[in-house]
Amino acid sequence: MQTKILLQDHQIPKYWYNVAADLTSSPAPILHPGTLAPVGPEDLTSIFPMSLIEQEVSRERWIEIPEEVQKIYQLWRPSPLYRAHRLEAALKTPAHIYYKYEGVSPAGSHKPNSAIPQAYYNKMAGIKRLATETGAGQWGCSLSLANSYFGLETTVYMVRVSYGQKPYRKNLMELWGAEVIPSPSNRTEAGRRMLDQDPDTTGSLGMAISEAVEDAASHSDTNYALGSVLNHVCLHQTVIGLEAIEQLKLVEDYPDVVIGCCGGGSNLAGLTFPFVRDKINGKQIRLLAVEPNSCPTLTKGSYAFDFGDTAKLTPITKMYTLGHDFVPPGIHAGGLRYHGASALVSQLHHEGIIEAAALPQTACFEGAVMFARTEGIVPAPESSHAIRAAIDEAVKAREEGQQRTILFNLSGHGHFDMSSYEAYLGGQLEDYAYPEENIAASLAKLPQVK
Ligand SMILES: Cc1ncc(COP(=O)(O)O)c(C=O)c1O
Repeated sequence: MQTKILLQDHQIPKYWYNVAADLTSSPAPILHPGTLAPVGPEDLTSIFPMSLIEQEVSRERWIEIPEEVQKIYQLWRPSPLYRAHRLEAALKTPAHIYYKYEGVSPAGSHKPNSAIPQAYYNKMAGIKRLATETGAGQWGCSLSLANSYFGLETTVYMVRVSYGQKPYRKNLMELWGAEVIPSPSNRTEAGRRMLDQDPDTTGSLGMAISEAVEDAASHSDTNYALGSVLNHVCLHQTVIGLEAIEQLKLVEDYPDVVIGCCGGGSNLAGLTFPFVRDKINGKQIRLLAVEPNSCPTLTKGSYAFDFGDTAKLTPITKMYTLGHDFVPPGIHAGGLRYHGASALVSQLHHEGIIEAAALPQTACFEGAVMFARTEGIVPAPESSHAIRAAIDEAVKAREEGQQRTILFNLSGHGHFDMSSYEAYLGGQLEDYAYPEENIAASLAKLPQVK
């Protein structure tokens, strides 16, 4: 009975897998936020290095991982794949449940898989500082960590509600040398405008992105780094699924269903994209994205062109969206409070290759506590969405009397999310109703693209 399925250092993938090479239809163009015309690489150079812009539009199937990035990955990769024997026993399920544990990175989540290459390519391009947004703080920590390896400065705009909910994440970012600013802030024009409109706003990822993009675009030595959504971020995360495939081969198993929580889509992409090839080639496998029912981008959003941020500074992409100025309720899975989703995840969902489900936060916390009391690891609130869906799949397998193999991404630990667990265990956590009217109002403001 094997519990930990491990690979050696030399088995870290040498290439990232680019799902864009295997799509059956071409990706939609990226549009300029002012003119609505397709953007060229030169339109993006004020905030990104050319190497990342090239990855963003690449249709090459395999993209080499620089040696320096591989060396840093070695500090925690290959990450372990676990068989959840104790959770299976508690559920009395015939299902095999596996989880890929990304919480072993120094920052505690999958996010450094992209932060490290982003810092590397920016350093190579002569950039001195990176500005970014963070929700729960996992991405801000990951970029601060990555920048500390490469000697870059970091400015993090942290969504205000999370700034209050996760104070130690701020300390961790500062420990790795970052400056952390609650967003919206007075630091940027976009932030000042948002505060004028609503001085008590919880903030949102869309607002924090506006501030970070404005900061980067207005300083020549500064670039912007995004922790999710973009094609190059999803690309970097594919080390997760590539390793998982090799690990499952070692125990001669193969998943019936692969599950990831979905905020912007990067950890979901990281685990599922390497399986998309199998599915396109006819393999019977389900790929499942799980999101909060209070921010139901894939399940209730429109598949349309929209801005990635509230202040309409980012390029426009075709994606599932709830509208760029939708402010999701202040759920504790701060990393899932995003109005949009990755264009690649959206396209695969639209084409029926990736399914989606939406869950309320208390059901997810219930799953997280069951997981912590059986497997021991305290999950990040975001990851609890994948856990809950995996539990539901395992129960279904039991009820149907069928052995099934379930693989999910445990995208991060929840050691800095204790105030959320305190609220849940104290019975103070509420579920939010599906904010139908707010979403309809935001969707009415989508850019009119012909
Ligand atoms: C642990 C963890 N999982 C998942 C997410 C959601 O982001 P994504 O959909 O890009 O994986 C976040 C975002 O902050 C996170 O911190």
